[in-house]
Amino acid sequence: MTFPEIETVAIVGAGPGGLASLYEFLHLNKDGSSTVGSAPSADPKFAVTVFEQKSSAGGIWAPSEEADLPVPPQHLLDTDRYNEPDVIHPKVPIPEEVRADGSAATYNSPYVTQSKQLDRELEWKRSGVYPDLFTNIPSRFIRFSYQDNEPEYNDKKRAIYPFLTQKELASRFTNFIAKEQLSKHIRYNTRVEEVTKDQARGKWIITVRETNEKAGTESWYKQEFDAVVVANGHYTVPNFPRLKGLAEFNRKNPGVLIHAKSYRDSNIFRGKRVLVVGGGISAANLVQYIFPLASETVITRRGPHLVFPWIDSGLESPGIVTKPPIQEFQDDGSVVFTDGSVADKFDVVLLTTGYHYHYPFLDNYLKVVDPSNLSRVAGLYQQTFSIDDPTLAIAGVAVSAINFHTIEASAAAIAGVWSGAKQLPPREEQQKWETDRVAALGDNLFFHYYPYATVEADYIAQLHAYAAHGRPSPFVEDGKYVADVGVGLDYLEQLFYKLKEGKLTIEETK
Ligand SMILES: Cc1cc2nc3c(=O)[nH]c(=O)nc-3n(C[C@H](O)[C@H](O)[C@H](O)COP(=O)(O)OP(=O)(O)OC[C@H]3O[C@@H](n4cnc5c(N)ncnc54)[C@H](O)[C@@H]3O)c2cc1C
Ligand SMILES: NC(=O)c1ccc[n+]([C@@H]2O[C@H](COP(=O)([O-])OP(=O)(O)OC[C@H]3O[C@@H](n4cnc5c(N)ncnc54)[C@H](OP(=O)(O)O)[C@@H]3O)[C@@H](O)[C@H]2O)c1
Repeated sequence: MTFPEIETVAIVGAGPGGLASLYEFLHLNKDGSSTVGSAPSADPKFAVTVFEQKSSAGGIWAPSEEADLPVPPQHLLDTDRYNEPDVIHPKVPIPEEVRADGSAATYNSPYVTQSKQLDRELEWKRSGVYPDLFTNIPSRFIRFSYQDNEPEYNDKKRAIYPFLTQKELASRFTNFIAKEQLSKHIRYNTRVEEVTKDQARGKWIITVRETNEKAGTESWYKQEFDAVVVANGHYTVPNFPRLKGLAEFNRKNPGVLIHAKSYRDSNIFRGKRVLVVGGGISAANLVQYIFPLASETVITRRGPHLVFPWIDSGLESPGIVTKPPIQEFQDDGSVVFTDGSVADKFDVVLLTTGYHYHYPFLDNYLKVVDPSNLSRVAGLYQQTFSIDDPTLAIAGVAVSAINFHTIEASAAAIAGVWSGAKQLPPREEQQKWETDRVAALGDNLFFHYYPYATVEADYIAQLHAYAAHGRPSPFVEDGKYVADVGVGLDYLEQLFYKLKEGKLTIEETK
């Protein structure tokens, strides 16, 4: 497949996916060889610009004290379509002055407007990481292969061994960004609002909105690029499942419903009756904090966890009341379950119901199939290259316990293909790869899921085939330790019971 010459690259988002892509491009020589593992290229192949909507890089690991809205605003709940990401995370209208052909809104001469507070709330851009959180993946695997594996985190005497507190992981990123001087390539407070392709000229046109909080203004401009990496993450837009009576319940009982993304302080559970909706990792993670504090902990789930049996045993362990799915929320605050049982008003109803993949800035690419916590992004080869236009790629769509290494493998493959060092197979072969995977795993989130035991063969090696010349595999050293992820699950389970049973306090985990 012949490939257009690429000189300029835009990256949407400066989380792990965006930073890994930036690092990769800074280590890419003009001849398609890689300097990863040593100093950046003295004469890199591409001019790279990263757009990050927040004031700092690191994605969800750049924590924010302030949280997003606990639930969407009432007028959106009243639409009864609050389960649709397009409704709760709408496109911000682009001013005509910016949209017009030949618009003069450029980086050096932007079009300036006043900012709108509600638009900002519906960006959902604050991190879902809370102060008590520690990682659920061992230290070695929450870093890229070229980052230090600091020995101090591998001390078995640490209360949360082999994991890191969210603060420690945040520092790992801050140090990485400073050491590699990545910030000079990142435009902060700048949100990508639209990405379109001028097919005739083969250019991507990116429309962005830079927010100046102090001045209360927003600067709009457009810029052209040869290629775009989408690295906007998929734990940004919370999934609010459509449940009968939920909108009216919230109107009559404000302050009761809260999505896990907006949780910050465990004191909200102290002495309270708490209903946890969902049975995933967030549910298990939060129940370990809720149970010792709450007067009653009730869980409502649709079914067993499809990957980790320990979550089911944990959520069904002594003292926790388990309920089938919710039938209906009632105006008086009570909740009816599908077995006909009714529970009196809870003080807190915590929605641990996951997140959406969402690409509101891309109209014609990366279609999300059946938006929910289990949706799939269609049109990707090897979870990375847009089959319709491989000058559009994504780093971070896969779901895996070793997602830092899968992100790195995608970023390395993007650099290899875009530099011309490697070639993608013909479009038909790419489409067949997608069709076969859907047939084998389903047209849902499992399409994106890679168990850690098989991730090397099924993902890392597949993508590494496209990496730039001389680029070591992300698993060249770390691959020897992949079984540690499984051992980590045993530690995670033990920590769950220690916290739940009060043998370990939250303070001791920090
Ligand atoms: C609560 C929670 C706990 C987790 N714990 C772990 C863990 O323990 N271990 C682990 O490996 N993984 C964990 N994860 C998964 C986590 O998402 C990944 O570790 C990692 O952050 C993924 O990186 P990313 O770059 O794909 O996405 P993100 O970290 O979400 O970064 C995306 C970035 O893109 C920016 N962005 C989005 N849209 C735009 C736009 N339109 N314009 C400009 N910028 C934009 C965002 O502001 C953000 O900075 C957790 C996720 C959650 C929600
Ligand atoms: N570091 C940590 O310890 C930590 C903590 C929290 C989260 N995380 C990460 O955050 C990511 C997201 O995890 P998550 O648990 O928030 O999301 P998730 O895995 O998508 O789980 C969502 C849960 O909500 C349930 N649900 C969805 N819609 C529902 C509905 N209509 N009615 C009832 N239940 C519904 C799902 O049930 P079904 O299974 O039936 O769909 C599932 O149990 C994961 O990558 C996880 O690793 C990490």
